[in-house]
Amino acid sequence: MNQSEAKTPSQSAVESRYILMPHQANQYGTAFGGVIVAWIDMVAAMAAQRHCALEVVTASIDSLHFKEPVYVGEHVILKACVNYVGRTSMEIGVRVLREDPKSRKQSLATTAHLTFVALDENKKPTVVPPIQPETEEEKRRHENAKLRTQARKELREKMKR
Ligand SMILES: CC(C)(COP(=O)(O)OP(=O)(O)OC[C@H]1O[C@@H](n2cnc3c(N)ncnc32)[C@H](O)[C@@H]1OP(=O)(O)O)[C@@H](O)C(=O)NCCC(=O)NCCS
Repeated sequence: MNQSEAKTPSQSAVESRYILMPHQANQYGTAFGGVIVAWIDMVAAMAAQRHCALEVVTASIDSLHFKEPVYVGEHVILKACVNYVGRTSMEIGVRVLREDPKSRKQSLATTAHLTFVALDENKKPTVVPPIQPETEEEKRRHENAKLRTQARKELREKMKR
């Protein structure tokens, strides 16, 4: 793959669907947070890998918000897309929807932002292709992700001192 050629977020977007089973729930019949996070990490990793076609690792997960509980038997739909790309890192946004299997009513259950870093054959960070947001929504996400990426970097630098 040509690593200097820009890609659009839709070229690497990933959507996945699960059903919440009893062993993935707590005593209240709702999802363990860790189960949802594992699914989030998985879809985000696939979007990052589809963007750069390289080995990727999770560097951080932040702004993880559990907005609504997910109940046993509900469908869980995960949507991941690349929001922003740095030199070797990529911010992936994930939205998790819960769907009632009978009524098909959907609502937003969880959101998260993850940073993945691409690695070369020596397991060192390596350059990823640029991102080219197309739609107004993609452009908005790109601008917001740029601010978050800068803020994360600044915070890491400050914490080092
Ligand atoms: C992620 C990792 C490769 C970064 O390595 P590093 O030597 O710190 O790399 P650098 O300082 O050169 O930074 C590389 C990029 O990662 C970004 N980065 C590093 N740490 C980060 C963090 N905690 N959060 C977000 N981004 C981070 C940097 O901003 C930089 O981005 P840029 O190239 O787009 O500007 C390394 O910390 C690592 O291997 N961590 C373990 C990963 C892992 O096991 N994940 C869980 C299982 S997949």
